[in-house]
Amino acid sequence: MPSFLAGRDIISIKDLKREEIDEILRLTDAFEPLADKGSDMLDGRIMAALFFEPSTRTKLSFESAMYKLGGSVIGFAGPMGTSVEKGENLADTVRVVENYADVLVVRHPLEGAARLAAEFASVPVINAGSGAEEHPTQALLDLYTIRRELGRIDGLKVALVGDLRYGRTVHSLAYALSLYDIKLYLVSPEILRMRKEVLAGIRGRVDVVETDDLAGILPELDVLYVTRIQKERFADPAEYEEVKGSYRLTSAMLSRLKPTGIVMHPLPRVDEVDYDVDRIPQAKYFKQVRYGLMVRMFLLASVLGAI
Ligand code: NCD
Repeated sequence: MPSFLAGRDIISIKDLKREEIDEILRLTDAFEPLADKGSDMLDGRIMAALFFEPSTRTKLSFESAMYKLGGSVIGFAGPMGTSVEKGENLADTVRVVENYADVLVVRHPLEGAARLAAEFASVPVINAGSGAEEHPTQALLDLYTIRRELGRIDGLKVALVGDLRYGRTVHSLAYALSLYDIKLYLVSPEILRMRKEVLAGIRGRVDVVETDDLAGILPELDVLYVTRIQKERFADPAEYEEVKGSYRLTSAMLSRLKPTGIVMHPLPRVDEVDYDVDRIPQAKYFKQVRYGLMVRMFLLASVLGAI
């Protein structure tokens, strides 16, 4: 029986039901050995990476995932050197590239761009970041990390810290976490509070506390998820100046974190997590990268109908 994801787009985490997310997390385990030794599961299949916005890990992670499964990759990073520079619109780009590839992975600065691409494409589209809106595959790898490191998601106390207004990873992750029985702390300066539409989507489903006091809640936390202030998305540079450096995690502060608590970050980090935190056993952000590769291997194999 083909995977429930065969032929499907992955545009918003909200398109997935809890049982489906649990299934993704469970089935990803099987890709751990394949991340080391490789496989020919996607031999002859082609992934197009259409990245209209900068990316290091997401693009490389998808590319590596495809290669490790025996597939091939085409694509671009930044519209420079492509027909987009000549004024080609996204719908046309998609209708051209779908002739060359079996799956499209799209990152675009505009919200709604991945959804639009999926409407025009006849092959599956995976959203690798749509403006400040969503980053569903990051949310899946974040959940996978929590489940792997702590053995469960239900019953935990999770804090999302930093730029909750412009950070797309925390939007997708908040929606996903609201499917579980957790307590969610949203920690940010006033002007970077969680978007109203996300709050409206999760309130009532999960116990939410908004605060700017990280130190006060730190000892309670099972998961501390830190994010970068998204400088490039601020309309007003003065506003960025006001909030930059709002939270800066040090290993001294983290001595108050439970021994079983974990520190996560989608990366890239700028100055919100000190380098000395890397040495504490609770720091899991580089493990997240590894788990992300496995999750994306699973997703590509699934949407392409190989499992
Ligand atoms: C994030 C992104 O692009 O939204 N990076 C990532 O995909 N891991 C986070 C960020 O840029 O701060």
